[in-house]
Amino acid sequence: MRKKIIAGNWKMNNTISQAEDFVASIIDRINVSDREVVICPSFVCLDTVYSVIENTNVKLGAQNVYFEEKGAYTGEISADMLVSCFVDYTIIGHSERRNIFSETDEMINKKAKTLLTRDIKPIICVGETLEQREQNKHFDFVKSQVINALKDIDEKSVAEKIVIAYEPIWAIGTGKTATAEQANEMCKFIRDTISELYSKKVADKIRIQYGGSVNAKNASQILNMPDIDGALVGGASLKDEFVSIVNFE
Ligand code: PGA
Repeated sequence: MRKKIIAGNWKMNNTISQAEDFVASIIDRINVSDREVVICPSFVCLDTVYSVIENTNVKLGAQNVYFEEKGAYTGEISADMLVSCFVDYTIIGHSERRNIFSETDEMINKKAKTLLTRDIKPIICVGETLEQREQNKHFDFVKSQVINALKDIDEKSVAEKIVIAYEPIWAIGTGKTATAEQANEMCKFIRDTISELYSKKVADKIRIQYGGSVNAKNASQILNMPDIDGALVGGASLKDEFVSIVNFE
């Protein structure tokens, strides 16, 4: 049985004091054990959020990493730095990073490999534009993103460490959710792709999330679909509403 994983991607929101107050206000209600909960604040809030979640089941995630070990990369953050902040998961390849900061599939693959060397679990985001969906190119596009992101990554890491987040770009921050059927269809397609690339055993183990305007109202419908193993939540993870998403039935 794959354990559901619900991650909150705060993006560029919350100062240190806001982060502390907010997590303190929800921690008792998101500290569950039958599903995994991850909070991904900005880098500067990692330490503060960790101090609130430290003795709970809730895990800490980062929103990005650089693939080089250390050196003259002004403004970047290394995997070792994330380890020193007790980070368990790191989101990579979010469409905002791909589109606004020009990240390529190759960079995302390097980031995934770097994280794995430090035993941090990558949450790899993939997803098509509305235009690609309308032209019926969405399956081919997402398949190429998955293949490129996982290049040269061993099957044990894929089965046990990697999480894939299917986030159709047209559903992110727009209030326009994919239907549960559309989301499940692509998550299943990604699972079939993993089966082709590795094996059915690996495909049965890897966790695949859906992301894009997940909220308290649509969470249970989406999260009860057979191939959807969790959610990557943006806007609603900044509000008390996150508690209802985590506790979906
Ligand atoms: P959203 O963002 O829930 O605000 O649509 C999701 C994401 O970008 O991960």
